[in-house]
Amino acid sequence: MFVCSCFGVTEEQVREHAAAGACTPRQIASSCRAGTDCGGCVRRIQALLGRGAGPRRAAVAAVAEAAPGERARTAAEALPRAGRAAA
Ligand code: FES
Repeated sequence: MFVCSCFGVTEEQVREHAAAGACTPRQIASSCRAGTDCGGCVRRIQALLGRGAGPRRAAVAAVAEAAPGERARTAAEALPRAGRAAA
């Protein structure tokens, strides 16, 4: 299903860009131009990113799940934990 009719970008393509590391509509736009013409698709892209499980979301989840004594202060600190959890 098309998310961005201006550039013919599908949900699947947005998910692929998210899996490759795009975390924001702006980063999706840099990857495939979706959202850069009329802007009518930006909320749909944002909704897709919110539901996904991209690298940043994994880091945020790792921060949320850390034991209180081990709580990471930033997502960057949690990234190695997220990698360990996935391994
Ligand atoms: S529908 Fe995506 S920029 Fe217009």
